[in-house]
Amino acid sequence: MKSDRSLARSVMFPRVVNISDLRRLAKRRLPAVVFAYIDGGAEDEVTLRENSRAFSDVTFRPRQCVAVPSCDLRTTVLGTTLDLPFILAPVGFCRMFYPRGEVHAARAANAAGTGYILSTFSGTRLEEIRAGTSGPLWYQLYVPGGRDVAEATLARARAAGYSSLVVTIDTPVSGMRERDFRYGVRPLLGGDFWGSILHVWQFVTRPRWGIDYLTDGAPKVFPNVELPGIGAMPCGDVGVILEKTIVTWQDLRWMRDAWKGPIVVKGVHTGDDARHAIDAGANAVIVSNHGGRQLDGVPASLRALPEVVAAVNGRIEVLMDGGIRRGGDIVKALCLGARAVLVGRAYAWALGAAGGPGVDRAIEILRTDVVRTMRLLGCPSIAELDRSYVDAPSEWFADRYAGSEPRTRPTPVRM
Ligand code: FNR
Repeated sequence: MKSDRSLARSVMFPRVVNISDLRRLAKRRLPAVVFAYIDGGAEDEVTLRENSRAFSDVTFRPRQCVAVPSCDLRTTVLGTTLDLPFILAPVGFCRMFYPRGEVHAARAANAAGTGYILSTFSGTRLEEIRAGTSGPLWYQLYVPGGRDVAEATLARARAAGYSSLVVTIDTPVSGMRERDFRYGVRPLLGGDFWGSILHVWQFVTRPRWGIDYLTDGAPKVFPNVELPGIGAMPCGDVGVILEKTIVTWQDLRWMRDAWKGPIVVKGVHTGDDARHAIDAGANAVIVSNHGGRQLDGVPASLRALPEVVAAVNGRIEVLMDGGIRRGGDIVKALCLGARAVLVGRAYAWALGAAGGPGVDRAIEILRTDVVRTMRLLGCPSIAELDRSYVDAPSEWFADRYAGSEPRTRPTPVRM
């Protein structure tokens, strides 16, 4: 494995100027199958593309001749103050991108003063992630082993100091990610490295990755899903596993009882579902379409954000993710009412490109982008961003909720 210093050099300016450069380097280091898993979306990838494209529908309205010598990027999410208005999203199978990938990503988030969300589909024990960082950690829940198994995991997460639970609701089945089939992602995700060797050319051309992956033990289990009498759940076919993880609003109620901290519902697209989430006891929702990996044809997350913000009407916090590749994208989402955003591929590519130093670099790129954008806008603080700093298509704000209460501040989280 390369040293951290040489990895950091490999992602320095001017070799890496933006997130797209990290994507290019990930493509160079990873076998096609792993790159396809990170990069791909469902079916025709319309939603995947729309997620990023929609940001160009929103334009800035800067205030000139305003001196902004420094910018305050701090924001408070569910009672925790973060130094940055973005959090690292739950991304499964990070050890396929880089040895002990989740540990590196969590450390990088912590070093930058922000939070990390650990996916159920991670290959590292949640306690080990906690031991490697003192920063804010949230746990993302799928329920592949059923309710009792999930409750045992929640008890472990709580004991380890994870502060919030993220419940992903947009995976009743796996989206049809065609690149996964073409490149042999399924056997690899199922822990069957040799099964995916059918696509041997991908590995022959990336021997360095192969050595790293095998040295890391070619992880084959989800250590945070402990099945009675079996132990850690074997990876298996993710499509089949996801079908067992369907979450209903009814389930949200037992989760509310089982988890004493804040609950965040991830995968909301509409005002109606945001209201269901509030009724089920959620403290926040994430407007998300899973990075265009589930139902192709839903609108970009940014496009869905105003409807959800209006429906929530300040009762709980609203976050969003999908398509964020630049700090300017983050600023636009905050102007449209998101309290903070999540980034997925922006750091997953970075991890695949250069491990921990790659993620440090991705975070730094986004952070400096946000500062520059704020200074160009003439806005000194994240807390002051609002709709007056942007123009967005008027139909995004069509008043479906005429007669609702005026917007109020979110109520404080009770634990
Ligand atoms: C994801 N995402 C995801 N979400 C989740 O709730 N649990 C998970 O295990 C995963 N796994 C996962 C793997 C990979 C490779 C990607 C790219 C994404 C979705 C993720 O949390 C987030 O919603 C999207 O990544 C946001 O879109 P961008 O930032 O990738 O465009």
